[in-house]
Amino acid sequence: TAQAVAAAPEDPLFGLMKAYREDPAENKVDLGIGAYRDDNAKPWILPVVKKADNAIHNDPTLNHEYLSIGGLPEFTAAAQKLIVGSDSPAIREKRICSLQTISGTGAVHLGGLFLSKFHPNKPSLYLSSPTWANHHQIFTNVGLTLGNYPYFSKETKGLDFDGMLQAIQGAPAGSVILLHACAHNPTGVDPTQEQWKQIATVMRQKNHFPFFDCAYQGFASGDLARDAWAIQYFVEQRFELCVAQSFAKNFGLYGERTGAFHFVSAPGADASNASAHIASQLAILQRSEISNPPAYGARIASRVLNDPALFKEWEADLRTMSGRIQEMRKGLRLRLEKRGTPGSWAHITDQIGMFSFTGLSEGQVKVLRDKWHVYMTKNGRISMAGLNSHNLDYFAEAVDSVVRE
Ligand code: LMR
Repeated sequence: TAQAVAAAPEDPLFGLMKAYREDPAENKVDLGIGAYRDDNAKPWILPVVKKADNAIHNDPTLNHEYLSIGGLPEFTAAAQKLIVGSDSPAIREKRICSLQTISGTGAVHLGGLFLSKFHPNKPSLYLSSPTWANHHQIFTNVGLTLGNYPYFSKETKGLDFDGMLQAIQGAPAGSVILLHACAHNPTGVDPTQEQWKQIATVMRQKNHFPFFDCAYQGFASGDLARDAWAIQYFVEQRFELCVAQSFAKNFGLYGERTGAFHFVSAPGADASNASAHIASQLAILQRSEISNPPAYGARIASRVLNDPALFKEWEADLRTMSGRIQEMRKGLRLRLEKRGTPGSWAHITDQIGMFSFTGLSEGQVKVLRDKWHVYMTKNGRISMAGLNSHNLDYFAEAVDSVVRE
């Protein structure tokens, strides 16, 4: 049977990371993977995470026993409050259940698996076009049928709102619609609050099920409530929905795989019962796949989320990261406009979060890599966090040059 297995292609993003590492050029620039870097292009351990980490190391009550199947209870409770708001009707009415997961990817997977097993009509799941590349394979792996809705307008480099709304309207009633809660990956383009309201109206009419992927709460705008606005709005509108929540970017806990999956049941007399049933089934899925989640990252996040003083420090750290990224957006746009680089560059500052969808073509991306040692994904996405005060001029010069070629 071994001969029957064909070689799979390398993961494009991790392949890019490897190519960057192997490039000996001194002026190389890594704008590939979405991971925060400081002004010296180095990974940044959030000061509040360092504090929590020290406290954990000095805590004699901790050991290396298993967590429960659903994870660390004080972590999931705090994660739940953070994402839907502590005064959410879903919490009050006991119709939200939450499990700790292997970061956002694990949460997306658990949600997809649950829907494919328990949704009565095996619905199609609609992804924005484009979306995070991993979404396709995660949902395909659990046997869901995928559809797309338009999202990005090449002309405006902003949201194709009409296209999006029409496609959601046109999807068969009861479809699952995957929505990026904020800081859309890869485009950096989010609906406005007014547009979210219209999306909710159409989804309600069609009885669609919202599946939110939230990987950037607090990291996008620096404001935790603002970045979760869409989720909280849909919950207030009494939708049944689910949320995949990642703490990779907003805590800088990438490798610790810290996240949560939340299922909010539809309101009604039996809602808390239904929610308990769902939690019990999710626990079986979790047990069969990972048994129980890893403790370390959840302990760190839990300490911060449950301690008001540390929480405040975390908010300051979030503003440090989002603020630096916003500075880089301004700096890049300014430099391109100063050079008179052909095209318009307002989208660089209009877009939000880790990424900018530059509009550069695959050919231009290739020249940037071969000639300038600048690494970014083929679709023209750049990770804004890879830019800093030392390489901004160089990158602007490189973009200017390839655009004029
Ligand atoms: C990205 O899109 O760069 C990040 O979300 C990292 C990943 O796992 O793909």
